[in-house]
Amino acid sequence: MIEPLPFTPQLDVQPTVTAFFDEPTNTISYVVQDPTSNKCAVIDSVMDIDYAAGRISYGGADQIIKFIKENELELEWLIETHVHADHLSGAPYIQGKLGGKLGIGENITIVQDVFGKVFNEGTEFQRDGSQFDQLFTDGDSYQIGNLTAYVMHTPGHTPACMTHTIGNAAFVGDTLFMPDGGSARADFPGGNARTLYRSVKRVLQLPDETRLFMCHDYGPNGRDIQWETSVAEERNHNIHVKDGISEDEFVKMREERDASLDMPKLIIPSLQVNMRAGKMPPADEQGDVFFKVPVNKL
Ligand SMILES: [Fe+2]
Repeated sequence: MIEPLPFTPQLDVQPTVTAFFDEPTNTISYVVQDPTSNKCAVIDSVMDIDYAAGRISYGGADQIIKFIKENELELEWLIETHVHADHLSGAPYIQGKLGGKLGIGENITIVQDVFGKVFNEGTEFQRDGSQFDQLFTDGDSYQIGNLTAYVMHTPGHTPACMTHTIGNAAFVGDTLFMPDGGSARADFPGGNARTLYRSVKRVLQLPDETRLFMCHDYGPNGRDIQWETSVAEERNHNIHVKDGISEDEFVKMREERDASLDMPKLIIPSLQVNMRAGKMPPADEQGDVFFKVPVNKL
């Protein structure tokens, strides 16, 4: 069954949204700004990694910090729509420079449990979500200045996925892609194609004019990168989930397609960092930091 929206949409509320595209991982980060105050939130930021060299850097996050400083904004929230498997979060780095609270869906604990085992983390790795400042439950809301953000559980890609709706803008994470991109994979541990379909349909109950902001775009068929669409566009044109495609049809397509996909290039470092709220694994006695590569486990 499709869960109803846990809030009443407010199309007359129009946040200012600025996108930052990370080319190496095709991720879009957002600064969402209250037009009536100087308050803002950052959604899905990126920490750069050269995985072959084992080197991390912060060029992308620094651009967001610069934007916030230049516009004299105050950062209230850093939001992760889910535990990303294809890029490392830049949230703790930005939080260290600008403050704000770091929030994710409460089912982060499921993800921590699964990947705590995969990476054979010891008991010092807490699986209670305590690395974050706020764990959101379906129907929760929070303030960005005078804007109210509503949190809606939209699992399927991962169990912790949340869609954040702020006025006429919804940040869908990996629940949806642009209409010609379809939907995200549903084959990670805790993912489920049938659940994803129901989550997509839940999001598409938002009013037709709602602006939808993607977390990723890969520019299918050579088109330029795009990240914004609308509920109406998705319902009319999404190649995987437009109106008229049944749940069973979607599940068959999604599962066949997922079986053909390689693991994301950065899944191993991404999960080890993102399950820790974007922090690196603990340093050894010498102060050196390492990623693990579990063999034949993913
Ligand atoms: Fe994802």
